Amino acid sequence: MRILSIETSCDETAVSVLDCNGGTANFTAELLGNALYSQTEKHAKFGGVVPSLAKREHSMNLVPLLERTLHEAQLLLVAERSIAPDVEELLRGILSREHTLHEAFVSFLKTHEKPEIDAVAVTYGPGLEPALWTGLNFAKAISIAWHIPMIPTNHMEGHIVSSLMKKQKDTNIYEMGAVTFPLLALLISGGHTEMVVMKKWIDFKVVGTTRDDAVGEAFDKVARMLGLPYPGGINLSNLAEEGRRIAHRTFAHPETPSCELPRPMINSPNLDFSFSGLKTAVLYFLKEIPDLTDYVKMKVAREFEEAVGDVLVAKVARAIAQENVKTFVIGGGVSANKHIRIRFEDLMKTEYPDIKFYLPEQELSTDNAIMIGMAAYLRSQFEANELVDPMEVRAEGNLRLQNLKLAIGE
Ligand code: KG4
Ligand code: ZN
Repeated sequence: MRILSIETSCDETAVSVLDCNGGTANFTAELLGNALYSQTEKHAKFGGVVPSLAKREHSMNLVPLLERTLHEAQLLLVAERSIAPDVEELLRGILSREHTLHEAFVSFLKTHEKPEIDAVAVTYGPGLEPALWTGLNFAKAISIAWHIPMIPTNHMEGHIVSSLMKKQKDTNIYEMGAVTFPLLALLISGGHTEMVVMKKWIDFKVVGTTRDDAVGEAFDKVARMLGLPYPGGINLSNLAEEGRRIAHRTFAHPETPSCELPRPMINSPNLDFSFSGLKTAVLYFLKEIPDLTDYVKMKVAREFEEAVGDVLVAKVARAIAQENVKTFVIGGGVSANKHIRIRFEDLMKTEYPDIKFYLPEQELSTDNAIMIGMAAYLRSQFEANELVDPMEVRAEGNLRLQNLKLAIGE
């Protein structure tokens, strides 16, 4: 099954084409084409993502990225084509709020053959609604213009499924690793921090969640306090690494006060998290420091990462014991964090060698369209795509993980 996928939930515009096969038992996904445009620099001067700007950028970039992806997949066929009047009318309606996108797509349709694609998958939530709508409307237009089913896909499901896919050496083929249920997923991203248990495919039970900030959000806010440029997470992480590298100097330095941050809710008898107190503790610590030297910054960054790592590891250990976990997977942008990856690799190797453990490939850690195609394929093994009426689908900023509604054959 050849899937075109689209991701526009935040500030990454991404399009990919995957050839998926094997069902749930032998799921492989060959990446035929992939194009991703990160808007980070556009938002940097505002210190965070501006939804209306993200929407405008998605509108401008989706068609060029589609063209690039199809070209890479060798599916781009130039030809003069006409659009049926009823289809043209529908497209005008669907893209009435995305003027740039409408013009670009109509002109694309008039100059290219329909590519050999079986379905279009698109993120419909969670995320920034204006941004989600742009990708969703584009997918609707594609579905109508090329008469292919649309598979509305949950962004977080994308993070879970893609984290289980391992890239085969020297190929563009991802293969799903062995999974034994119950599976525990730790989702750590800019908008989410939660633990989810699956007893079978597409059956989600959220067992723990953050009571305030998401981990990625805390990373970004603390980075800002330290005067680091947006996007904060990666910059804070780099600074912490630097701190570790020259630890003998940073920590022995007489003018560097010691920094000890709390580990919020680490011992609470549940699977919930809280990160806003940690962020506030950094704020109070910095208030007492007259001179925010590079040494101090490195020390705070390192201690912050360690506090987050301690809490995540403790809560995962608790969840593993409580839920009889057989497979553990981490997904979401913060899973790109080196320190957190190492902490979990150590934990799983020493404490739980019998549990199957998956971290996402680096390119699948932060937002991308590949993960959307993968999750769409997996879901399509259980739910008939044709049952979805594209025109009925709405963008849902706060979308939760959804269990199967109507399974095939039921
Ligand atoms: O999954 P993602 O790309 O987007 C959302 O769905 O939110 O996650 C983005 C989050 C941001 O908060 C970003 O700062 C954080 O992931 N992040 C990191 C790192 N790379 C991305 N946080 C810590 N260390 C990193 N290396
Ligand atoms: Zn994400």
